[in-house]
Amino acid sequence: MTTQSALITVMVAAARKAGRALTRDFGELENLQVSQKSQSDFVSQADHRAERVARTELARARPRYGFLMEESGATAGADTSNRWIVDPLDGTTNFLHGIPHFAVSIALERDVDLVAGVVYNPISDELYWAEKGKGAFLNGRRLRVSGRKILAPALFATGIPFAWHRDHKLFLRQLEKVMAVAAGVRRFGSAALDLAYVAAGRYDGFWETGLSPWDMAAGIVLVREAGGFVSDINGGTAMMASGDILAANDSLHEPLGRLLRDCR
Ligand code: 2AM
Ligand code: CA
Repeated sequence: MTTQSALITVMVAAARKAGRALTRDFGELENLQVSQKSQSDFVSQADHRAERVARTELARARPRYGFLMEESGATAGADTSNRWIVDPLDGTTNFLHGIPHFAVSIALERDVDLVAGVVYNPISDELYWAEKGKGAFLNGRRLRVSGRKILAPALFATGIPFAWHRDHKLFLRQLEKVMAVAAGVRRFGSAALDLAYVAAGRYDGFWETGLSPWDMAAGIVLVREAGGFVSDINGGTAMMASGDILAANDSLHEPLGRLLRDCR
């Protein structure tokens, strides 16, 4: 076991508490024999509840920090250097369908630099955390990205751009290219967990377009601290602004990026 800093302890407590709320509601949802509309209302309430829980915990521990949250948006803090970036329920569609693959994602941004991230899957009780310069961990075990060096045995994850997104044709070309040369491509529906899995060496890489900052902020810290590379799909650093992300180990980041860019 590795000792967590005070900062990580605060983030972990908030993620676990929000995760407990989600687990309770997830259990309820399984018993709910209701219309689609009231199911999605219930999930939306669960989402908001988890966000309130995380917010209360974080604000109690660091009252001066600001927030950027999926449901309540941006709130400036008295301390303008530090901002929490929170997705209380990443993998909402999985949650709604009773699929136990979703997470709470909490990151700390300090002067526009991502310095800490926690991703927690409350159902599997897998807690991923990382702090800049201090490494990435899963339930106390040090994480390292995969060591695969060539595309043929590599397993990648991606996300299908959602319904109204304009990039479907581009995505299909990318998928065609990658699936032709890699061992496999997975699409599990939680960008935060996809990035955590890259950090854990389960996936060799991940790409997705059209994401929001809270989907990726904590996962970016995890991958970097596990020794991986993160960029936008052009290879630049505008992931949070563009919503495009490409994360992989250092051997596969460039070849995967080249395949994706060739599709334009
Ligand atoms: P969410 O579950 O918090 O919405 C799936 O491809 C990834 O995209 C998830 O991390 C999901 O986060 C994110 N995403 C962002 N906006 C979305 C949307 N409008 N519909 C579906 N997934 C969305
Ligand atoms: Ca999300």
